[in-house]
Amino acid sequence: MRVLIDAGPTRESLDPVRFITNHSTGKMGYALASAAVRAGHEVTLVSGPVALQEPEGLAEFVPVVTAAEMAQAMKERFPKADLTILCAAVADYRPKVYSEVKRKKSQGPLILELERTEDIALSLGQMKKEDQILVGFAAETDQLERYALEKLRAKNLDWIAANLVGVPGSGFGSDTNSITLYCADGSKTDLGSGLKTALADDLIHTFSTGKKRSDF
Ligand code: PMT
Repeated sequence: MRVLIDAGPTRESLDPVRFITNHSTGKMGYALASAAVRAGHEVTLVSGPVALQEPEGLAEFVPVVTAAEMAQAMKERFPKADLTILCAAVADYRPKVYSEVKRKKSQGPLILELERTEDIALSLGQMKKEDQILVGFAAETDQLERYALEKLRAKNLDWIAANLVGVPGSGFGSDTNSITLYCADGSKTDLGSGLKTALADDLIHTFSTGKKRSDF
């Protein structure tokens, strides 16, 4: 299969010195890319700025910085992908105005005006053809199932991998994660907790065979 994956955070700059970002390290997305290579797929990885080494065996590696760059890279490559996995933590907002020079601080508070970035998952969900598989992630601090199911439907995804963030051992930064997988057919699979590398193997196996491993 031709597999397209996005990973890592995006950065939205206020000025040449400062930017808005999040805690994604790229570990989960890079683990998925490596797992897909190991499984024999042709893999393209679009990555925000991370400190990880490029996985071996990729067909293409596309480094990007901003949500707009990630959106363009993903939309260009999506039509040729059989399986697309959206693991990146894309900034939902960017500063409305970019200052070419460093913003000077003043005594009072600073109020920043932010504007929405493109929702890449939503755009790809609208472009999706019958034979394409589109998978998202849901990163939530609470009400995991409710928000994951809302995103699955709103973005026209085939699967959504839900993980808690802001708790030790899961989500951002750690080598481990805990994932529940929801399918558009209404089924739910608890993949449990484990190393991101092992969960990635499980996920790639599930998406490429269409089989779910531990339904309950
Ligand atoms: O990188 P790590 O440190 O290993 O951490 C892994 C992870 C927590 C980042 C990863 O497992 C994860 O949950 N990734 C999705 C993070 C996220 O932004 O989730 P969300 O619930 O806000 O977004 C839902 C889906 O829409 C995601 O597939 C996201 O990639 C996508 N999205 C969101 C906003 C946007 N503007 N464009 C998008 O495509």
